[in-house]
Amino acid sequence: MTKLLSSSPEPSTAYDKARDDTIGAPLWLLAELTYRCPLQCPYCSNPLDFASQQKELSTDEWRDVLHQARAMGAVQMGFSGGEPLVRDDLEELVAEARELGFYTNLITSGLGLDEARILALRDAGLDHIQISLQAADEEMAAALAGSKKAHAKKLAMARAVKAAGYPMVLNVVLHRHNIDQIDKVIALCVELGADAVELANCQLYGWAHLNRAGLLPSRSQLDAAEATTQRWRQQLAAEGKDMRLLFVVPDYYAERPKACMGGWGAIFMTVTPDGTVLPCHSARELPMTFPTVREQPLNSIWYESFSFNRFRGDEWMPSPCRECDERHKDFGGCRCQAYLLTGDETATDPVCGLSPQHGLIEAARAEAAADNRSVAELTPRNKRESQVFCRE
Ligand code: SF4
Ligand code: FES
Repeated sequence: MTKLLSSSPEPSTAYDKARDDTIGAPLWLLAELTYRCPLQCPYCSNPLDFASQQKELSTDEWRDVLHQARAMGAVQMGFSGGEPLVRDDLEELVAEARELGFYTNLITSGLGLDEARILALRDAGLDHIQISLQAADEEMAAALAGSKKAHAKKLAMARAVKAAGYPMVLNVVLHRHNIDQIDKVIALCVELGADAVELANCQLYGWAHLNRAGLLPSRSQLDAAEATTQRWRQQLAAEGKDMRLLFVVPDYYAERPKACMGGWGAIFMTVTPDGTVLPCHSARELPMTFPTVREQPLNSIWYESFSFNRFRGDEWMPSPCRECDERHKDFGGCRCQAYLLTGDETATDPVCGLSPQHGLIEAARAEAAADNRSVAELTPRNKRESQVFCRE
């Protein structure tokens, strides 16, 4: 049987000191149960080499991760992937998390769900379900997801989730190929009875970064989509409907970078399918080695590891962040974005208008403006890599 690490010796004095002085507990645990997925979206945030990762954690190993994270103070827990429903122990893990006192959220495409599983997850204590939609219509959704049946299945499962009494968030990743459908997308979400809708412009990591020039919308597309969202907000309020609409602008059109993950190693940790622990879902793309729960207890990884301490505080910051009044607000932006754009993970995020490399963002927008590829010409996530991922 796999050696479990929660029975490891008590944490060292160094760990206790670090915890008491400056480092808070992780509040959020994202469990990426698997990279397996029946869909092949060209904006997937999974790493490009997902198919070559080590074998997935077993049920017992995941249980141990949950116990360790909860003991450290984590309270929010997301199950994601890939498609977490591919794991037939999902219900068991949800029950364990709930028993430990986590608030649990399932982030899913809806594929792999059926009425029986919805009820089993409810019995296990699942608090919340987030289903992703690709588009308003079947044709565009099929082109993006690589599945003709997925859209109808998602709609049926969204209805079943509401019928089972769950609070439901619908998530629609926006990009230049579907953003002009936003009016129909919101109307569909209203019809499905969503409690909240995340209209999130594509974050350009993983496969989305590979397809960046073919995904980034134009400024006029963005402006029109924001205006439509605002009109819907007013209409819903006038009708007394309580559906929240969140519109997330793409970083490449922002003036300042986002405070990614609330700061590196500040409140959030991701455990990937093979047990690697990351401060964000994309950090695997950085030229760093991250520890795994198979080798090291979670509290030691969080408080003591080189990788989690690498970008805490502001000692590591270059100019202009080092002298900037906003450095404790956005922490110099996103480390993964800085690396993907500049090749230097310590650079100021080029999204920032004060960055000496901000021209890279302008160049990316110009490159996108000249890109006329259709959805079919983008690289779907599993075209280059095998879908095979070993669980045992
Ligand atoms: Fe943030 Fe650095 Fe830009 Fe200042 S210079 S706003 S700290 S990214
Ligand atoms: Fe990794 Fe922002 S996504 S630090």
